Amino acid sequence: MIQVQSLTKNYGKVRALDQISFDIKKGEVVGLLGLNGAGKTTCLRILTGYLIPSDGNCNVDGIDVFSNPVEIKRHIGYLPETPPLYPELSVRDFLQFISRLRGIPEASFNEELNRVCELTELKEVERTLIRNLSLGYKKRVGIAQAIIGSPPVLIFDEPVSGLDPRQIVEIRNLIRNLSGKHTVLLSSHILTEVSRTCDRVIVIHRGKLAGDISGDQLGNIENIFLDLTKKSSEAGG
Ligand SMILES: Nc1ncnc2c1ncn2[C@@H]1O[C@H](COP(=O)(O)OP(=O)(O)OP(=O)(O)O)[C@@H](O)[C@H]1O
Ligand SMILES: [Mg+2]
Repeated sequence: MIQVQSLTKNYGKVRALDQISFDIKKGEVVGLLGLNGAGKTTCLRILTGYLIPSDGNCNVDGIDVFSNPVEIKRHIGYLPETPPLYPELSVRDFLQFISRLRGIPEASFNEELNRVCELTELKEVERTLIRNLSLGYKKRVGIAQAIIGSPPVLIFDEPVSGLDPRQIVEIRNLIRNLSGKHTVLLSSHILTEVSRTCDRVIVIHRGKLAGDISGDQLGNIENIFLDLTKKSSEAGG
């Protein structure tokens, strides 16, 4: 569902991504794990067609991202690191605006709004102005705008950063509920969180692919992560 081949991104002299390659299968929930500055956001922005790489290829849902930067956005729901919300709009009006941008027919909007608000537990704040919501609720609105219209691929950049422990558990359950039906790629630097939410974790370290953790190994993610990043540093990463 997502194929990344030899992706490289230079910002001037800074090499943020260095020949990263990975494949993600349909229905998988995969975490991109790395320290601050590892290159997670850069990778996700390239995959969603918002940033042009210096080299390499990406294919999402059978579409070549760089030749189709507009078309690709119909196949991906994206929660950026800072959710693009309009604070002066109510939750409902904002989601209606997004729904129109996505080309969802007006006649289906109410049904889609109900579905999305139930999933993200936003029903009771539907009429509230976004600026009056707590951070956790704002994050939910960010997730709601990503899943409206049910795009097959969901890309969430730090979906739980800044949330309290209860909200973290709620967002984790929400993401788990999206698995199977959607292919999810999310970034995080919280080891335990990513191991609980994801089927598989891709580790990047200083722009390089450092390893892939899945199955039973997820239970021992802290040691494996430290080991992988150490090996990557020793190899010149
Ligand atoms: N627009 C930019 N111009 C120059 N350098 C940049 C730019 N964006 C990112 N970088 C650099 O690229 C590297 C990777 O940044 P990126 O934001 O992708 O990391 P990240 O893994 O998302 O980090 P974090 O966990 O802090 O969100 C960093 O060294 C960063 O300083
Ligand atoms: Mg980031």
